[in-house]
Amino acid sequence: MDVARYLAARVQLVNRALAGHFPASRTRLRQAIRYSLLAGGKRIRPILTLAAAEVVGAPARLALPFACALEMIHTYSLVHDDLPAMDDDDLRRGRPTNHRVYGEGLAILVGDALLSEAFHVMACAGAVPARRRLAAVAEVAAAAGEEGMVGGQALDLAAEGHRTRLARVQEIHRRKTGALLRAAVRMGALIGGAPPSTLRRLTTYGEHVGLAFQIVDDILDAAGAPAADGHTDRALAKATYPATLGLEGARRSAVRERDAALAALRPLGPEANPLRAIATQIVTRADETSASAGRGFAAPRTPRARASARAMTREPHA
Ligand code: IPE
Ligand code: IPE
Ligand code: MG
Ligand code: MG
Ligand code: MG
Repeated sequence: MDVARYLAARVQLVNRALAGHFPASRTRLRQAIRYSLLAGGKRIRPILTLAAAEVVGAPARLALPFACALEMIHTYSLVHDDLPAMDDDDLRRGRPTNHRVYGEGLAILVGDALLSEAFHVMACAGAVPARRRLAAVAEVAAAAGEEGMVGGQALDLAAEGHRTRLARVQEIHRRKTGALLRAAVRMGALIGGAPPSTLRRLTTYGEHVGLAFQIVDDILDAAGAPAADGHTDRALAKATYPATLGLEGARRSAVRERDAALAALRPLGPEANPLRAIATQIVTRADETSASAGRGFAAPRTPRARASARAMTREPHA
């Protein structure tokens, strides 16, 4: 399969739908929402939802509102993550952070609005039977809250500047980042009415991909890659795999997580190829730490990254 094309088509689908949920308007709040939500972004979480839905035969149209809701929640988490009281970042998605442009008060409200609208969008997704819709809403609510992303962010703040044991780093990653990626996959499966055994496999896949994703994010940051977007995580002495295991150790961990994600999909057929491709692509990003590499997700830029992307598409699936 052509991974880049697959991803680009879904990015476009998600971007159009997101813009439709927040049409341009003259209020400053709406402008601030659109500034962050429509600023690019790899859209990995919504794509995972669409790809997981496809595995169980559900059309993208059905899963799209849930995919968009996840991206709204993710974007809210980024806007708040960048605030001076949190990571105090000046750059996000290649442009000045929301609070740098609109001020801290409005940036906080952008997050609040995106979180609320996410639940509105899911509640109103009338094409999905009510029982499945509720299951998906419960899934993302748990993943976004104290047990998941918000709890992980709190642990991340508390760990700042301290030496952190690997088990603790792993827990922080599982919650602050892994929870939403796991939920992304599970929501797609729930909307499509996945049988329990498939749901279990997809859940395991989502957990490993989620951990790999944050490890790679920190590798890119630690290596000073352009893809890291100028973040200050390193300067803040965050709890990360590279800080605990070194860059090579972190890379090996990311590869192990990818392999575990792929193993979980082994009994599934070609309908799971997009999920396989995404797992491989996530880890391939860690190769893009040379000065020439961009921040892209869909199109690997370095020869090493292109080679592993090619190898991935040849991977047997059974
Ligand atoms: C960045 O997420 C924050 C993490 C959880 C690592 P992404 O790397 O998905 O950021 P965007 O959405 O593509 O900008
Ligand atoms: C962000 O983790 C996790 C969130 C829940 C937003 P990071 O702080 O590592 O993400 P970046 O590096 O700012 O994108
Ligand atoms: Mg952070
Ligand atoms: Mg940050
Ligand atoms: Mg980071």
